[in-house]
Amino acid sequence: MSDAPIPVAVVGARGRLGALACEVLERAPDFELVARLDSGHVLEQALPQSGARVVLECTRAGLGYEHARRILELGLRPVIGTSGVSLEETRALDEAARARSLGGLVVPNFSLGMWLLQRAALEAARHFPQCEIVEMHHERKLDAPSGTAADTAERLRALHPQAKTPPIHSVRLPGMYAHQLVIFGAAGETYTLRHDMSGPAAFGPGILCAVRHAASAVGVARGLDAALAGR
Ligand SMILES: NC(=O)c1ccc[n+]([C@@H]2O[C@H](COP(=O)([O-])OP(=O)(O)OC[C@H]3O[C@@H](n4cnc5c(N)ncnc54)[C@H](OP(=O)(O)O)[C@@H]3O)[C@@H](O)[C@H]2O)c1
Repeated sequence: MSDAPIPVAVVGARGRLGALACEVLERAPDFELVARLDSGHVLEQALPQSGARVVLECTRAGLGYEHARRILELGLRPVIGTSGVSLEETRALDEAARARSLGGLVVPNFSLGMWLLQRAALEAARHFPQCEIVEMHHERKLDAPSGTAADTAERLRALHPQAKTPPIHSVRLPGMYAHQLVIFGAAGETYTLRHDMSGPAAFGPGILCAVRHAASAVGVARGLDAALAGR
């Protein structure tokens, strides 16, 4: 691929995640932010005009899958940060992308720390099959359990399909931002993994890695694994 900046459009650009994404993309020399779209725009009109190659979707839970399909139909590459895209939907997007020789990513959490926690949790689960997840967020977060905790539980369940899905406990309190523990228990010992976020800046590096990966990927993968491979 050429060294020209990657043209990126952000959908949901006025929201908290979208605004942060616009800020980090504008500061990074490898990317050109070519469109900031919101609910007043029609993707089929705004995206072709923008010249975007990658489209970062940061709207609201439930819209990610439909928007990703429409982005692929336009011949563009989706990075879906919006919560709620299921494993089955990710597989369907992967098929649709491969049929068009396109690629993208579904990333339930852009934080590198959370990526590390999930990797460590999968390693721990090979030795300690029983675990429970505690996710703690500020009191303004309305949904529970968090999409990230559900994603962690799904990944752990995939490792031990015969075991029950790890239970998730949700806490909503002022003074918190975003925190997750995975507690493994075995005879005579427990092992706890913990990730703490104190602000949204933690999403920045993962957003850039995801967009860079999507610009040349074939197929739609889930999570940051493919984007961070080799780091
Ligand atoms: N992957 C991650 O690491 C990560 C991190 C944080 C959040 N999230 C997820 O990302 C999503 C956005 O979170 P947020 O905190 O940024 O929410 P937010 O502040 O409520 O922002 C959502 C934005 O989406 C826009 N929007 C809604 N419907 C739209 C449509 N049909 N087309 C275009 N734009 C539309 C809204 O614009 P209007 O005001 O014009 O309606 C709003 O500006 C949520 O699903 C959240 O769970 C993911």
